[in-house]
Amino acid sequence: MNKKLCVLAGPASKDLANSIAKILAAEIIDVELRVFPDGERKIRINGDPSGKFAIMVQSTYPPVNSKLLEALFTIRKASKMGANVCAVIPYMAYARQDKEFLKGEAVSMESVASMFDTSGAKSLITVDIHSEIALSYFTIPAYNVSAVPLLAKHFNSQKLDRPIVVSPDIGGKERAEEFAKIMDADFIALPKQRDRSTGQVSIDPNTPELAKVKNRDVIMIDDMISTGGSIVKATEVMKKASCNDVYVACTHALLLDDAMDKMREAGVKEIVATNTVPSQVSKVDVAPAICDQVNKL
Ligand code: R5P
Repeated sequence: MNKKLCVLAGPASKDLANSIAKILAAEIIDVELRVFPDGERKIRINGDPSGKFAIMVQSTYPPVNSKLLEALFTIRKASKMGANVCAVIPYMAYARQDKEFLKGEAVSMESVASMFDTSGAKSLITVDIHSEIALSYFTIPAYNVSAVPLLAKHFNSQKLDRPIVVSPDIGGKERAEEFAKIMDADFIALPKQRDRSTGQVSIDPNTPELAKVKNRDVIMIDDMISTGGSIVKATEVMKKASCNDVYVACTHALLLDDAMDKMREAGVKEIVATNTVPSQVSKVDVAPAICDQVNKL
């Protein structure tokens, strides 16, 4: 790349920003955050991104609205300072609200995409966005990077007993297939149902596909773990179907409230996530995948 590069380390993603800067051998510029007593955010860019291709890294994990605004404030300021800004939003909040599921519901992702479109960013990179529909709302060039190969590589080096890759829902079937291909393993997708009003998840324990997990180690793959409810439900039905150990791989480990305890109690042996969201299980660095995409811009 012939551009003068810098990485703006958003307050939510300092470690990941450093990792990206290291790989790209780019200057790192600190983004300082001040929070006022009423909760308002103030951003200060402690450096000079003018005339540079500036990779602004800020994930929008909880509290999502604050982190989203911090990202937008940073992008606008950097653009006004004369930078060509590429927004790197490793975890894109609101991507699950990509449709009007119930009549009258706002398509929140459409509004969020429009905020980035008008923020001054010239391009955007995100990691394992919840759906292609969510990505389609951007008018600036927006790229989705897959962390699946990096997660699969992590599990490839572990000794597992005839592993089978499982998606807890049909929507994640392609992700499970990609993961299974790298591991040279079988895969299935379970028919998870979510009640659109209560948010409760259920999986039919009589699903014929469940027979395939019997006496085998399972690696469950999902884009995100929020309350842990989906993983708990899937683990319960697979344990009933006599699977062996249950491992979980996910990109975004939000791990709200007692999600970790609930998953362990259900019988999950190990959880491995990436560092799009910093957490106790963020063992896989997504910086190489993000940098590959930056190098293609
Ligand atoms: C939903 O379709 C997603 O892919 C995840 O399965 C879901 O958001 C996880 O949420 P929770 O951990 O609360 O079940």
